Amino acid sequence: MATIFRDWSYRYQWLYDGVSRLAALSVGGESRFRQLALQDLILHPDSQILDLCCGSGQATEYLIKLSPHVTGLDASPLSLERSRCNLPNATYIQAFAENMPFNDHQFDIVHTSAALHEMQPQQLRKIIDEVYRVLKPGGVFTLVDFHPPTNSLFWPGLSLFFWLFETETAWEFIKTDLPGLLRVKGFEVTKPSLYAGGSLQVIQAQKR
Ligand SMILES: C[S@@+](CC[C@H](N)C(=O)[O-])C[C@H]1O[C@@H](n2cnc3c(N)ncnc32)[C@H](O)[C@@H]1O
Repeated sequence: MATIFRDWSYRYQWLYDGVSRLAALSVGGESRFRQLALQDLILHPDSQILDLCCGSGQATEYLIKLSPHVTGLDASPLSLERSRCNLPNATYIQAFAENMPFNDHQFDIVHTSAALHEMQPQQLRKIIDEVYRVLKPGGVFTLVDFHPPTNSLFWPGLSLFFWLFETETAWEFIKTDLPGLLRVKGFEVTKPSLYAGGSLQVIQAQKR
């Protein structure tokens, strides 16, 4: 269940970006939030980076500073149109994350922010399979998304946010053992780094 604010946040970019900036204050601001999953990545000038579920390019903006070879994939034509307009230096593809139109072993890095919590459990597993397939051996899947708060003071804020903007998939997602799913697939996973009272997790998983 979600409120009308969810529809509005996708319809009006100023609302999505405003809410995102407000939420990012919990980790020290938008710029820090956008770079949490980009720490310690080993990149070279030819690194091929995929911004999975790129939306309107909120994280793509930071990825194009790391490599000239950034591809943004999203299912929404409207979001991609906004990305192309905001950040023409990346390549954009309209597709579903669970069925990506890429060759095996195409990317050095697959990044995704604030998107996996929108997936149904089976869809999430399919996306993990696809990410594994399109990554080169040694490539890294790096993500930032919700996590159950470890500091109870953060539960009311997260619950309000979920009620206003999310659906039941977000509640299901925070109960999911994401590192476990990634390990089963064959990724080597470091312990998630937690932020904002534990309500955000950053995971970097390497394809063996
Ligand atoms: C909450 S937005 C996140 C956007 C951006 N990554 C960010 O950090 O702000 C989730 C995005 O995932 C996209 N999306 C949802 N399901 C998808 C799917 N199955 N395949 C590709 N994109 C999907 C939506 O269109 C939306 O742009």
